[in-house]
Amino acid sequence: VIGRLNHVAIAVQDLAAASALYRDALGAKVSGPLSLPDHGVTVVFVELENTKIELIEPLGEHSPIAKFLAENPGGAVHHLCFEVADIFAAREQLKRAGARVLGDGRPKIGAHGKPVLFLSPKDFAGTLIELEQI
Ligand code: CO
Repeated sequence: VIGRLNHVAIAVQDLAAASALYRDALGAKVSGPLSLPDHGVTVVFVELENTKIELIEPLGEHSPIAKFLAENPGGAVHHLCFEVADIFAAREQLKRAGARVLGDGRPKIGAHGKPVLFLSPKDFAGTLIELEQI
């Protein structure tokens, strides 16, 4: 079902500090911060040759990553995003395999303007999985 690794998302408390690490220490190409109020995060994209790293910082009082950061105050890998060609076909196959889709189970428009779904980390070796239709 899955195609390429689209991005690895890392939740951080301090986006500027994390951006500086990737830009200055690793010499990566790092975007400016982009606030996504609908998603409750501000994001910075680190572009690598074969994938992206997304640094995400909580935005607003009801950020979906606030609890995760309270449990991981030093920052931590938050999710992996895999590309799929057909998000509905992927969802049905995964449901048949016993995976739980988070939320109401319907794809939402993600940070890149494309349909996404999230799968429970309880079914994926402790890792939150995002599927993005490309
Ligand atoms: Co993501």
